[in-house]
Amino acid sequence: MFSTLRFFAFGAALLVASAGAQSNCDRFYAVNTGDTCDAISARQNVSTFQLQYVNNNTVDAACDNLFAGEVLCLGLQGEDCTTTFVVGSTDTCATITTAYNISLATVLANNPNVNSVCSNIYPGEVLCVASQVFQYP
Ligand SMILES: *[C@@H]1O[C@H](CO)[C@@H](O)[C@H](O)[C@H]1NC(C)=O
Ligand SMILES: *[C@@H]1O[C@H](CO)[C@@H](O)[C@H](O)[C@H]1NC(C)=O
Ligand SMILES: *[C@@H]1O[C@H](CO)[C@@H](O)[C@H](O)[C@H]1NC(C)=O
Repeated sequence: MFSTLRFFAFGAALLVASAGAQSNCDRFYAVNTGDTCDAISARQNVSTFQLQYVNNNTVDAACDNLFAGEVLCLGLQGEDCTTTFVVGSTDTCATITTAYNISLATVLANNPNVNSVCSNIYPGEVLCVASQVFQYP
């Protein structure tokens, strides 16, 4: 029991240290070989925007510089959307707002990478579909 606790404390300290300044990180993730940003987002319930935004000091815009073992922060405390949806090939913002009973304004506020007419969403993209509006700074 005691050694289990110590192990977790040590692991948490390591993760915080390697994720640098993100002491207010809500969730951490260690990159595996072959991961892409959207694959991580889909499995971990984090939006494409949020993953990029939170890690914009280390992950480049095209997300082609991930490396195995790299520790990413998935969301910051207080602004961590965990209600997510992976866009399918026939989805539009209309199908998504209907499915989740949320307004387009909420979708746009929570996914600042989506343009105002919602024409740039793509299959495999992960959107925040929470009804709560998050205040990304
Ligand atoms: C992601 O969300 C789904 C649906 O709510 C849930 O079943 C799954 O456990 C979540 N995965 C993680 C890694 O949080
Ligand atoms: C990167 O994220 C920080 C907050 O984590 C934000 O203040 C900054 O504007 C972001 N930069 C870009 C280019 O998005
Ligand atoms: C949809 O959301 C509105 C308020 O945002 C609520 O009044 C209504 O009951 C919801 N409809 C369903 C089917 O959940």
